[in-house]
Amino acid sequence: MKPLIAGNWKMNGLQAARAEVEALIEKFAGAAPADRDVLICPPATLVAQFAERYSDEGVQIGAQDCHALAGGAHTGDISAEMLADAGAAYVIVGHSERRADHGESDETVRAKAEAALRAGLTPIICVGETREQREAGTAFDVVGAQLKGSLPNGGAPFVVAYEPVWAIGTGLTPSLADIGAMHDFIRSKTPEGARILYGGSVKPENAEEILAINNVNGALVGGASLKADDFHPIIAAAPGEM
Ligand code: PGA
Repeated sequence: MKPLIAGNWKMNGLQAARAEVEALIEKFAGAAPADRDVLICPPATLVAQFAERYSDEGVQIGAQDCHALAGGAHTGDISAEMLADAGAAYVIVGHSERRADHGESDETVRAKAEAALRAGLTPIICVGETREQREAGTAFDVVGAQLKGSLPNGGAPFVVAYEPVWAIGTGLTPSLADIGAMHDFIRSKTPEGARILYGGSVKPENAEEILAINNVNGALVGGASLKADDFHPIIAAAPGEM
């Protein structure tokens, strides 16, 4: 399975951030290696421009959210069809920050994932437990319920990202054994061919050991995807020929 290394820029990135993507491409000596998928999900304001400039250099562009409907009276929202039209190839759905800040339910996340597939995008569907749930020993139940409620019906191509909420932006990560156990569990509940990413404080220092775990098929990287100097070594750490 080809690893996918995805950068989630969240609400960061003005025009000047192009310099970081260009620096990244320069580090690849012109084009990202073909044995891994490299994805950047900038804010929606930059999707069309980045897709036009960088898709030929092997850096795919994705969005961070979409509406479930194709169009209509939904001020401020962006549909999956619009993102595809802007050149996006992927869209993140159900990130824990959207589940928390916007009250997105599993049902909403599934509708968004199905919208992405309808529009020809690959959804990256996020799941993950909170610290309280981990400490209470319910992490597998929580993630199992999120998978049951959020994954699209049918075996269409999608990506799952396991992101423990307590590991996002905190510098904390689960033990390698805990990541492996959760990824094995997710694999048992996910159609063959769906890649399973780990996300939450992935850094140049821990990327290689995390990406080497069985059933970890890539990473979803927040803070460390904003700078080429940090993101490049994470991409390079994915198993492959590079
Ligand atoms: P982080 O974020 O790498 O900054 O922890 C990951 C994410 O939220 O996708």
